[in-house]
Amino acid sequence: MLSWELARTRLALPLLLLLLLPPPPGPASCAAPYDPTWESLDARPLPAWFDQAKFGIFIHWGVFSVPSFGSEWFWWYWQKEKRPKFVKFMKDNYPPDFKYEDFAPLFTAKFFNASQWADILQASGAKYVVLTSKHHEGFTLWGSEYSWNWNAMDEGPKRDIVKELEVAIRNKTDLHFGLYYSLFEWFHPLFLEDESSSFRKQKFPISKMLPELYELVKKYQPEVLWSDGDGGAPDNYWNSTNFLAWLYNESPVRDTVVTNDRWGAGCICKHGGYYTCSDRYNPGHLLPHKWENCMTIDKFSWGYRRNADIGDYFTIEELVKQLVQTVACGGNLLMNIGPTLDGTISAIFEERLRQMGTWLKVNGEAIYETHPWRSQNDSVTPDVWYTSKPKEKLVYAIFLKWPASGHLFLGQPRGILGETEVKLLGHGKQLNWISSKPDGIMVELPQLSFPQMPCNWGWALALTNVT
Ligand SMILES: *[C@@H]1O[C@H](CO)[C@@H](O)[C@H](O)[C@H]1NC(C)=O
Ligand SMILES: *[C@@H]1O[C@H](CO)[C@@H](O)[C@H](O)[C@H]1NC(C)=O
Ligand SMILES: *[C@@H]1O[C@H](CO)[C@@H](O)[C@H](O)[C@H]1NC(C)=O
Ligand SMILES: *[C@@H]1O[C@H](CO)[C@@H](O)[C@H](O)[C@H]1NC(C)=O
Repeated sequence: MLSWELARTRLALPLLLLLLLPPPPGPASCAAPYDPTWESLDARPLPAWFDQAKFGIFIHWGVFSVPSFGSEWFWWYWQKEKRPKFVKFMKDNYPPDFKYEDFAPLFTAKFFNASQWADILQASGAKYVVLTSKHHEGFTLWGSEYSWNWNAMDEGPKRDIVKELEVAIRNKTDLHFGLYYSLFEWFHPLFLEDESSSFRKQKFPISKMLPELYELVKKYQPEVLWSDGDGGAPDNYWNSTNFLAWLYNESPVRDTVVTNDRWGAGCICKHGGYYTCSDRYNPGHLLPHKWENCMTIDKFSWGYRRNADIGDYFTIEELVKQLVQTVACGGNLLMNIGPTLDGTISAIFEERLRQMGTWLKVNGEAIYETHPWRSQNDSVTPDVWYTSKPKEKLVYAIFLKWPASGHLFLGQPRGILGETEVKLLGHGKQLNWISSKPDGIMVELPQLSFPQMPCNWGWALALTNVT
């Protein structure tokens, strides 16, 4: 990992110049830099905004939010796997002939106010949002022309949810607008037919998934396209490379869009834009490729669950730790909430979002637009994670436990007498420190009363001129 860091430092300047150059001029007909091959697509530089953003909010919302029981996989667990808990839930609460489709009219979104969501998302400190435009159930949150009677215009809300959120986000916030899209659908007859031909037939992608994806991108211009659910089919079944070449060469978002790595069986952690590798991926060490940790505040579900206990939700201390670890290791955090069938963000999710925003107001300097440092975490003191801003000669040491002694030992940085300065973010005054041999510095933290603390869930030291 050290060699990657060194190589990066050496490459930084030419790379930066390259990124700043406008795209080469030329007639539109030959301005197609990307071929429909992974070799070509994988070489596309990730638009710079994504790495700088560090923190996004994921939103899982759909017909599964109506039963809001178990998880967003409700339909599959109930009808396909026939898990007893789900079968019993239906038996106890619904008439015997009730079908999953009958949940759709109950998905009213009665209190959905995109403007209010936008305010909450902005308050969280996130720089992008990713909404499930369609999950594995196939219900589209926009009036898809290819999802007859199974979309939010024809059924349930009778509103274009994707449009409303897009407008509110773009009008009221500085967040980038992104969309999740499930390639496969659990029970779509054409997908099942293709599957039983071992994906030699391509009826489903040709008549459903591809036209829908093109429609989605043209209509809502998402800057994150979060693909998911390959259904066990390879990327050539999904025509992924052809679609991505269009997305990168010709689509209205070709200059700013980022995508992930879920474009067909075997692609994950290998091809596409940034890597997600697995749900809740958080490796704890630096990766040589941009990655994202997608995780959910409810430890057991992405969709809203009425049967969640308070202990099922991560505390703000745990969420801050996720963010800090992830960013120190070069990743972005995509933190998920599940709205209710009414379209409200429950108080517990709203509180976590606003808490994160409070923390970032003080400590955002150590998160946004930072780079990994030569060490990701301290070698001596646990729960200390590093980020850096090389141009400003700044290293940030984010510590998640306030030491009882009032002294924080950092085993990694080397201080220089007369040059190194240490400050606590949100406090501002210079702190005393002493060098220890061969490496490390001991920092004397300020003695603060409880209300004087800049925040309570993790603190950041800005170290200037350390090596
Ligand atoms: C929607 O939320 C906004 C706050 O962003 C508020 O001003 C507005 O009144 C709300 N609209 C409705 C219909 O409640
Ligand atoms: C969004 O902004 C445009 C232009 O400023 C305005 O016309 C429109 O009414 C706004 N829409 C909403 C929902 O705020
Ligand atoms: C799928 O890709 C093939 C080339 O591999 C192309 O001929 C075809 O038009 C594509 N289909 C769609 C619907 O994009
Ligand atoms: C932190 O650093 C130490 C020593 O460099 C290492 O052994 C450890 O695995 C790291 N990770 C975590 C999560 O503490």
